[in-house]
Amino acid sequence: MILVTGGAGFIGSNFVIHAIKYGRHKIINLDKLTYAGNLETLRSISGHENYLFVHGDIGDEKLVSSLLEKHRPYAIINFAAESHVDRSIHGPRDFIQTNIVGTFNLLESVRGYYQSLDTHEKMQFRFLHVSTDEVYGTLEKNDPPFSESNPYEPNSPYAASKAASDHLVRAWHHTYGIPVLTTNCSNNYGPYQFPEKLIPLIIHNALNHKPLPIYGDGLQVRDWLYVEDHCEAIETVLLNGKIGETYNIGGNNEKTNLFVVETICQILDRLMPRQDQKSYAELITFVKDRLGHDRRYAINAKKISLELGWKPKETFETGIEKTIRWYLENSVWVNSILSGSYREWVAKQYGH
Ligand code: NAD
Ligand code: DAU
Repeated sequence: MILVTGGAGFIGSNFVIHAIKYGRHKIINLDKLTYAGNLETLRSISGHENYLFVHGDIGDEKLVSSLLEKHRPYAIINFAAESHVDRSIHGPRDFIQTNIVGTFNLLESVRGYYQSLDTHEKMQFRFLHVSTDEVYGTLEKNDPPFSESNPYEPNSPYAASKAASDHLVRAWHHTYGIPVLTTNCSNNYGPYQFPEKLIPLIIHNALNHKPLPIYGDGLQVRDWLYVEDHCEAIETVLLNGKIGETYNIGGNNEKTNLFVVETICQILDRLMPRQDQKSYAELITFVKDRLGHDRRYAINAKKISLELGWKPKETFETGIEKTIRWYLENSVWVNSILSGSYREWVAKQYGH
């Protein structure tokens, strides 16, 4: 039995769906169902005997403690977070509340639970905290990729809140002996990603003949990882990672944003040609840059590869094609999760 938090979001839901479908774990999914969490995503497993959904907040110590006491999981995977950098720039409060205060409360519930375990249960127990490469700050063009020993230099409110949560997790290990693992991953893409993030936003806008917004000069670099590869890496770290260690996870796929958007346009031109025969690339529009925009992220994933034998299966080329095909075949899912608040967000961020 694993308690997963934030399992109705993008990465958490991919993890939960695979874990249940392949019969690997029993899962309790605790999720607050913010705008980013959606039960529609989990419909295929909703009645499964190995799966239980609980609507709630990681910051609700009473609820979390009672769940832990009742279900006695051998592991917790903390995906729950506010995760969108642009939203953190408009309104950082929710990021501080969930990512810092929420993680603190969750750790306190875990501390109480851990103390109640017997020696054998204590040896088995793990708290895996899912974090991001953004805690390391930004890289210049020729800098080596981020390794686990890079100093923390977060630049956005989102990154700072995740960095703070990583520090809390580390301290709860060193001070209270909680057996923690932390993973710092690069940009994910794939099925069930909310269309506020670059890749699903571009696919969604292109299919609706809307402008494809590129911040600044579009030459910022991200290191893209297919979400199922990330989920496998998390499971690998959970089962074989060394207590108290951090593991960087990345796809070895450094691409500029402009390249990513142009690639999506080329694939859509092939799979779903426009009626007027023009390329989707015509919709590319350069817009005002993100405040404090980090120029480049890149991950050195040697540690997880050499010590735990994990490697990504997808290249960017195979993963992006799969992703676009998934969005073309799942327009019902996209439409079901887009609400009035999504339209308000788009108006606020892009001014149309
Ligand atoms: P997401 O925004 O898609 O999903 C977050 C989920 O957490 C949602 O279901 C939301 O309802 C839930 N949630 C938010 N606040 C909560 C709270 N207080 N209590 C319980 N549930 C709450 O995020 P994602 O992209 O799936 O990211 C998951 C985790 O992975 C995050 O911690 C994020 O920082 C990290 N991460 C994401 C990426 C990426 O590229 N998306 C890369 C590296 C790390
Ligand atoms: O690096 C890991 C991080 O990746 C995760 O921790 C975050 O949760 C996740 O949101 C992601 O952060 P980014 O800011 O890198 O992702 P986003 O999809 O928002 O943007 C990717 C790049 O594309 C970034 O350089 C900004 C740019 N961009 C984004 C949007 C939404 C645009 O040019 N136009 C856009 O409209």
